[in-house]
Amino acid sequence: MIPQFDLKKEYASLEKEIRCELIKVFSKTNFIGGENVKLIENNIANYIGTKYTLSCNSGTDALHFALKSLDISKGDEVITTPFTFISTLEAIMYVGAKPVFADIDLNTYNININNILKKVSKNTKAILPVHMFGNPVDINALKQKLNNNSIKIIEDCAQSFGAEIDSQRVGSVGDIGCFSFYPTKNLGCYGDGGMITTDSEDYYNHIKKLKNHGSSKKYHHDIIGYNSRLDEIQAAILNIKLKYIDQNNTLRTKNAEIYNNQLTNLKDIYLPQKTKHGYHVYHQYTISSILRDKIKANLEKHEIGSAIYYPVSLEKQKAYKDIYNDHEEFKNSNYLAKTCLSLPMFPHLTEKDIIKICDVIKKTL
Ligand SMILES: Cc1ncc(COP(=O)(O)O)c(C=O)c1O
Repeated sequence: MIPQFDLKKEYASLEKEIRCELIKVFSKTNFIGGENVKLIENNIANYIGTKYTLSCNSGTDALHFALKSLDISKGDEVITTPFTFISTLEAIMYVGAKPVFADIDLNTYNININNILKKVSKNTKAILPVHMFGNPVDINALKQKLNNNSIKIIEDCAQSFGAEIDSQRVGSVGDIGCFSFYPTKNLGCYGDGGMITTDSEDYYNHIKKLKNHGSSKKYHHDIIGYNSRLDEIQAAILNIKLKYIDQNNTLRTKNAEIYNNQLTNLKDIYLPQKTKHGYHVYHQYTISSILRDKIKANLEKHEIGSAIYYPVSLEKQKAYKDIYNDHEEFKNSNYLAKTCLSLPMFPHLTEKDIIKICDVIKKTL
């Protein structure tokens, strides 16, 4: 059995360290707002390279607060990709803005910059690119082509902790970066968690209040806020796992290379392409094939896991059918929804297993 993702192997390798830190947390009983939370915020600010970080309850909250801090609301437009997890879209809906989709690039699976430019209007307040599957969007190229400082860029870094563009870490290239620590992410905790990164003191101060019931002084509430905290247990786990992120991302890229070598030049199999000048951290290794369903079924027969991220382009989601009424067809996003397949990918995956997976795929063609 080869799972699509295996958290057990990672836990086994960290068990001693994690137990030791958790015992300290339990004995201090400082479960909310303790020293591990401060430490992970500082550690991630240093790692990503931004002045400020704000931990919160999830990547979804991070995106929601980022949009709110930019004062985006009804009448404003936010350009994003239709090929992403629903949270990216939900955050835009939460603030009452209009989502405007720009189709993706079939090679990188990322939002296409030229398509973004075609969608910019006088109402565009922000662009929300997603570094899909760990592959960075070239935010510097986007900024240059946009040539408009009043349109803000929020990076959805949920799948891309440690990825780089022009040797700069994602989350520090746009105006605000939003991370998820969902357990299966490249840097994941053992529950829910998120982080916001920014160089702006204004956004920092606003989000600090938003995530704490609208308050900067206890029991005094300046704005209507939310309860969104990263707890001490999750922060302790993240501080341990952060030490290994580069090593683990390197293992992921090595695994991707093995897949690339094994699956190259096969008819009907398209391999993921890295963004130029970027460091792809392979949250997922996702191929595209018109034989996707056959390949998936055959992998299952051989007890090999795989996943379809994502089977429905967002403009076609039931909940948004009446809301999103631009009636536009996003050809590439819909094509990938029918053909994409994420193969097993995690740092502890072995070369032997990858070769076995690729052999099953080759025999299916
Ligand atoms: C692209 C993307 N954005 C946002 C999120 C939301 O993160 P969370 O699950 O922590 O709310 C995810 C998580 O799956 C994601 O993949």
